[in-house]
Amino acid sequence: GTPAGAARPLAGRTVTITAGGTREPLDPVRFLGNRSSGKQGVALAAAALQAGATVQFIAAHLEVQPPPGAQLTVVETAEELREVTLKLAQRSDALIMAAAVADFRPDTVSDTKVKKRDDGENPVITLIRNPDILVEVVQQRAELESPAVIVGFAAETGDDDATPLAHGQQKLQRKGCDLLILNRVGRSLVFGQDSTEVTILDAGGAEPETVSGSKTSVAAVILARVAAMLGTSSD
Ligand code: CTP
Ligand code: CA
Repeated sequence: GTPAGAARPLAGRTVTITAGGTREPLDPVRFLGNRSSGKQGVALAAAALQAGATVQFIAAHLEVQPPPGAQLTVVETAEELREVTLKLAQRSDALIMAAAVADFRPDTVSDTKVKKRDDGENPVITLIRNPDILVEVVQQRAELESPAVIVGFAAETGDDDATPLAHGQQKLQRKGCDLLILNRVGRSLVFGQDSTEVTILDAGGAEPETVSGSKTSVAAVILARVAAMLGTSSD
């Protein structure tokens, strides 16, 4: 492309990014949450804006400021995130699912604050599965043909059965997305840190690419991969 196109490879493109951690309410004052800071998602949004994209930023709970210049939608629960993501994905060239989505939610939410009881009975929380938003957005694409590029994230520790890489490759298959950004967690890695190391897994068969550095520089590499997959906007 032109030099201008090279500097702003996502000009004319819309990129939707989910970020932060969902919160699943138990009662008006309590929730089940997770340790996602949202930093990687904010860095991805900044990189997408830098590359010239229009950015739709869907924020679950963030411990950092949302990216200035993005179109912001704030959500709390996985179900809210699902609704907004399925809608905004329809008018996106790329979707990046960086949010940490609760796998489960309490099956009932009390309208009033849960109180301690004098009879010694303690509350029991029953959990039910949340929808898998990434899988649903891939299913929706089969009909709507949009977004062209879908990127998932995975945090894996590895276990007795498989390495983090093997778990990541299985997850890429299972989800049906185009790229899976694999974080190896444990050893105080990743959560809330400014630097990170990820391996980019590609459903198209490219070799896994390991990238380390600041969340900002890692975000730039991920957005460059997305831009390359989308090609130039005049295509
Ligand atoms: N994700 C999602 N909806 C969910 C759970 C996860 O869209 N209910 C997305 C995340 O945003 C992420 C990807 O799926 O992009 C992988 O999340 P992860 O928690 O690693 O995958 P799970 O399928 O939930 O597997 P696990 O049992 O390992 O948590
Ligand atoms: Ca999960």
